[in-house]
Amino acid sequence: MPDLQAKPLKYKELPGLSEKQLAEHHDVLYAGYVKKTNEIRGKLASVDLVAANATYSDLRELKIEETFALNGVKLHEGYFENLGGKGGAPSGAIADLLMEHFGSFEKWAAEFMACGMAARGWTVLAWDLEERRLMNIVTDLHNQGGVWGAVPILVLDVYEHAYFLDYATAKKKYVEAFMQNIDWEAVNARLKKLSF
Ligand SMILES: [Fe+2]
Repeated sequence: MPDLQAKPLKYKELPGLSEKQLAEHHDVLYAGYVKKTNEIRGKLASVDLVAANATYSDLRELKIEETFALNGVKLHEGYFENLGGKGGAPSGAIADLLMEHFGSFEKWAAEFMACGMAARGWTVLAWDLEERRLMNIVTDLHNQGGVWGAVPILVLDVYEHAYFLDYATAKKKYVEAFMQNIDWEAVNARLKKLSF
């Protein structure tokens, strides 16, 4: 398998998110997760399986950090890709689903934004393939709190590194800025992959 490659940003700056903020986040932090995923995968290719141990072993450490780094890649790619739009109320399939599963766009948005305030890492609107329902997920780490079988549809990064340059401790203002930049077309494209 070829190494992962960092995907480029499709914008330089956004209303409420500066070029510096986005560049540090994308070019340094996200790119770092891509690099570390490749490094870990390289080491796993020759790791000692016989020495596997749940207290400490090279296999254990590499496997734990593999999901941290790889989910760091996937969540950041989801985040950057679902920004760059006009935000506000959506249209298309996601509009119907939010209405069906949350009652209205406004009710969903109120819960999603509150989840953003409650999370230390990520807030993810996900589609559970088994239950066939939408849910807002709160996680504190890339490899903690996700639900297996639930596909991320909209990803919000609430680590301080995502907003501190622009907003310092004003996290709520950052979450509001995120909502104004959601690319609902990207969200609908993800739903389409799920055969909606
Ligand atoms: Fe981030």
